[in-house]
Amino acid sequence: MDLDDLNPGALMRQTLLGMSRNEQLRSVIEKAPVSRDVVRRFVGGTATHEVMSVASELVDTRRLVTIDYLGEDTADPAMATRTREAYVELLGALAASGLSQEGAVEVSLKLSALGQALGRDGNKIALENARGICQAAANAGTTVTLDMEDHTTTDLTLSVLHDLRQDWPWVGAVLQSYLYRTEQDCRDLATAGSRVRLCKGTYKEPEHVAFQEKGDVDRSYVRCLKILMEGEGYPMVATHDPRLIEIATVLADKAQRGAEDFEFQMLHGIRPDEQLRLAAGGARMRVYVPYGEEWYGYLMRRMAERPANLGFFLRGLASRG
Ligand code: FDA
Repeated sequence: MDLDDLNPGALMRQTLLGMSRNEQLRSVIEKAPVSRDVVRRFVGGTATHEVMSVASELVDTRRLVTIDYLGEDTADPAMATRTREAYVELLGALAASGLSQEGAVEVSLKLSALGQALGRDGNKIALENARGICQAAANAGTTVTLDMEDHTTTDLTLSVLHDLRQDWPWVGAVLQSYLYRTEQDCRDLATAGSRVRLCKGTYKEPEHVAFQEKGDVDRSYVRCLKILMEGEGYPMVATHDPRLIEIATVLADKAQRGAEDFEFQMLHGIRPDEQLRLAAGGARMRVYVPYGEEWYGYLMRRMAERPANLGFFLRGLASRG
């Protein structure tokens, strides 16, 4: 029996999502002698050269890549600056290796890692840092996508997106189908050249802003996808869900989109066989590869999504503990 069949329920998910933002637990788990294999399954290393080699392997197997330098909720301006510098260094290395050519490898970033949460000037600081990264991406011939965080940041993130697109119209957005507002956001963003990554959403959100039932989130995903596929933008279908992947293929066909007119996206380490199958069938398939020291919050959200991942993680901890 698959561990998922046990349905650990909403409680487990809520607990894990709560843990993802618990600072004390974070320092304990980050310092635990975690097997490198446990982290490596989902994270493309801690250093630039490690993620470059993961990206290169993915590109060699006909997959596209987006790289995320891990970090979020930065409370220190110097840390936000270091995050910008890490992206600029990464983009320089990607350009030098040729991996960023024609956007084969791009980057994804979280505005909270660039200073968005730093009080009154937070959004301005994040915007300036994001500008530095967009310029480096332009120099490297590739693109940037802004991750979407919890619902309290949605409007701010979309306003930064709007500002960045004045200079770099290729900056991509992420929308989350669990939010009630997202159908309207899809309509607003389904414009010519607009790159929109649609995902279900991974944060713990209250009932007044987000669907709580999986079925409702999935149905919202289909409605949003329909809007994006019928619109004029470039949809990026970010899911591992076999039903949604099938529906996306049908909707793209109906909207007369060719293989070049949209892409599938999945997280590093999740359903790699399906990634290869889609790529071999001629689809554009992009893999989201996070890297860096700050892997805790990211990994805990992956655990919350799938208890089988939790078993893998705990076994890894126990084997080294
Ligand atoms: P879900 O978790 O409901 O799984 C549906 C089905 O997919 C499962 O029933 C199973 O069949 C299959 N599946 C899922 N995981 C599997 C596994 N490990 N092995 C085998 N089968 C598996 N979120 C956010 O809030 N902001 C963001 O910016 C982003 N960015 C982002 C980028 C990209 C490229 C991706 C793929 C995802 C995100 N996310 C995100 C995360 C997203 O919101 C969501 O939490 C996860 O993708 C999990 O949702 P699924 O759509 O995969 O469905």
